[in-house]
Amino acid sequence: MPTRGEAYLLPMSTAAAYAPGRVELLGNHTDYNQGLVLAAAIDRGLTVSGRSRADATAVLASAALGRRVEVPLDAVLEQLDDAWASYSLGVVRELQAAGFAPGGFEAEIAGELPPGGGLSSSAALEVATALFLAKLHGWDLAPMALAKLCHRAENEFVGVQSGLLDQATSVFGREGHAVFLDCRSEEIRLVPFPPDLALIIAPSGEPHALVAGEYNARRAECTAAAAVLGVASLRDITPEELRRRGDALPDILRRRALHVAEENARVAEAVAAMERGDAEAFGALMFASHESSRRNFENSTPALDRLVERARPLPGVLGARLTGGGFGGSILVLAAADRADEVAQELRNASGHAGGGGSAPFLTVPSDGAR
Ligand code: GLA
Repeated sequence: MPTRGEAYLLPMSTAAAYAPGRVELLGNHTDYNQGLVLAAAIDRGLTVSGRSRADATAVLASAALGRRVEVPLDAVLEQLDDAWASYSLGVVRELQAAGFAPGGFEAEIAGELPPGGGLSSSAALEVATALFLAKLHGWDLAPMALAKLCHRAENEFVGVQSGLLDQATSVFGREGHAVFLDCRSEEIRLVPFPPDLALIIAPSGEPHALVAGEYNARRAECTAAAAVLGVASLRDITPEELRRRGDALPDILRRRALHVAEENARVAEAVAAMERGDAEAFGALMFASHESSRRNFENSTPALDRLVERARPLPGVLGARLTGGGFGGSILVLAAADRADEVAQELRNASGHAGGGGSAPFLTVPSDGAR
């Protein structure tokens, strides 16, 4: 017989949801400029699993971090000391604001996506949390609505003024495909990723520090450049126009704007190159993107530059660039599939990693999105 306290509880329901990290193939800092992005979900991600509770409390635990937070649902983000939990609790808050009312729950976060690796562990956590809660309550959230809700959670409650790239890729990723996203029209297109190509992620070992302010500073510079040029966003300016009109801008703003305008052009070229099977052209665009990050957007670091230079001469390497926000994090290498193991091994040797371990270079493949 149940004790009195248990007698009238609804049966516990349980749920689990998984969301992958992502790599940005091309389109660096274009998303919040209403531009074009080419990305892929990867085969590593985070799982949020747990059950409903009868009281109005949210409980989140991470065995990897050895942390547990317990907060009342009507004040999920007040007095929160655990930054990692704010990604999930920001989603709870956004669901509440959108008219959904999550009941009490407790969930465990697990996975193999190191925070700070530049692979969007934050977006994976947001998306997995939203899907977990949707399953637990039987809500049917449209995929783009889900991605945007998670994006709002990141902007509003985590304080990074990022774009939609990470959340959209985590939601819309598809095995064997890159995800093309037009951040103005919100068009998503899946582009077949050639099976004879491989992707290698090589972490720099420097955690990238988006929240530290450089990211938001770049975003502000982009907004300022667009204002001087009299356009709604940098999406509206081509590299050619910028070369003609660039004198109107102070040097720093001109270089920031050039990076974004050229990245948009590179994404369009890369999609065409992938569709005609021109892997060399695609790789060259990646090297050009990194060079532009290094010189114009100044979101690379010496460690990321060194990794790109180590990858460049290796047999089978077609392209390499920093992936994601920059200021640390990882580089992404495009290689011929039949040379990829050796390339990864060479990069491990060069970075002093014997293999395995959280920050050793590893192979990945374009993978399915959240489920
Ligand atoms: C981070 C942000 C994304 C995007 C990239 C840079 O990953 O979260 O929104 O701006 O940086 O392209």
